[in-house]
Amino acid sequence: MKILGIETSCDETAAAVVETSSDNSHVTLLSNSISTSMNLHAKTGGIIPEIAARNQSKYIIPVIYDALTQAQISFKRGQAPDIDAIAITYGPGLIGSLLVGVETAKTLSWIWDKPLIPVNHLFGHIYANWVETPTQSYSPILFPLIALIVSGGHTDLVLMKSHQDISWLGGTRDDAAGEAFDKVGRLLGFPYPAGPAIEEAAKLGDKKAYTFPRPLLYDKAFDFSFSGLKSAVLRQTEKLSDIPKEKNSLAFATQDAIIEVLVKKTLSAAQKHNAKSIIISGGVAANQTLRDAFKEALHKEDRTISFFVPERKLCTDNAAMIASAAFFKKTEVSSWKDLTANPELYFD
Ligand code: KG4
Ligand code: ZN
Repeated sequence: MKILGIETSCDETAAAVVETSSDNSHVTLLSNSISTSMNLHAKTGGIIPEIAARNQSKYIIPVIYDALTQAQISFKRGQAPDIDAIAITYGPGLIGSLLVGVETAKTLSWIWDKPLIPVNHLFGHIYANWVETPTQSYSPILFPLIALIVSGGHTDLVLMKSHQDISWLGGTRDDAAGEAFDKVGRLLGFPYPAGPAIEEAAKLGDKKAYTFPRPLLYDKAFDFSFSGLKSAVLRQTEKLSDIPKEKNSLAFATQDAIIEVLVKKTLSAAQKHNAKSIIISGGVAANQTLRDAFKEALHKEDRTISFFVPERKLCTDNAAMIASAAFFKKTEVSSWKDLTANPELYFD
């Protein structure tokens, strides 16, 4: 079975084709096409929804065409391509952006007469872990598992007892982890999105120079709070006469605080629920220091839990994860008329 995924919930315009494995345990990446307007947003230090949606409406068709071509799907003008379903992100996200993808997917589903499978973007991030790529082969992910979604908009802990039995354990009460990276980054003068820049700068920082608070670290609920971090960094910078000189050390302390909270809370959720696996995903999961911190913590504290993280390019927004989630969710709409974009969608 081949699924065309489409993702336009934030600033990316993405399309990908995946094929299901013969034993139905995972999907294999056949193509992954992404166009981003990030360079335009970098100038303004954040995403401007109108600019994102305008670019998406320009690039959606070329990106889908590219994904089908890269996947070597036979595809002639006026004929439906050789795919079995279309998967589309219908929320959460920016309404203008979501509409570009949703309306395109509805149109294609109707004219090509293909099933349409709506996907929650958050489940998409989770299911990036079930995508095999040419450089990362799939190894079985055992249930029960704890999934940590860490992106620019979300920080959530989810318990999965199976593909059908999924429950939300907790999430951020204010800023998401990626948002904390981006807001501190803006304060320190790093380009947007600041996560990768903070990660690089942190390598050059003095590890002992600063320590920032770890909110809710020992709280029993599996909630997070990162908004205080930005204020703590701001207070620290107000005391400094030469901020640029301290940028790297402040970046280190910021990243260290975020990582310690993410790793400790995920591990304690895993131990509480006797998880066999921890899987992480979302843009922040691209952070190598975070990936290493998880591996080190599990090596030291619990070698019975296996750790999984998608290839870096599948951590940030992409359409392969949407196609993968669609395969495991298998809930197509009976008609394109039944699908509406939902910017407020949470865990359904
Ligand atoms: O998943 P994503 O592409 O979009 C959302 O669904 O939000 O995540 C984007 C977020 C941004 O906040 C960005 O700063 C963060 O992921 N990010 C990182 C890294 N790469 C991207 N954060 C920390 N370290 C990184 N290497
Ligand atoms: Zn995302």
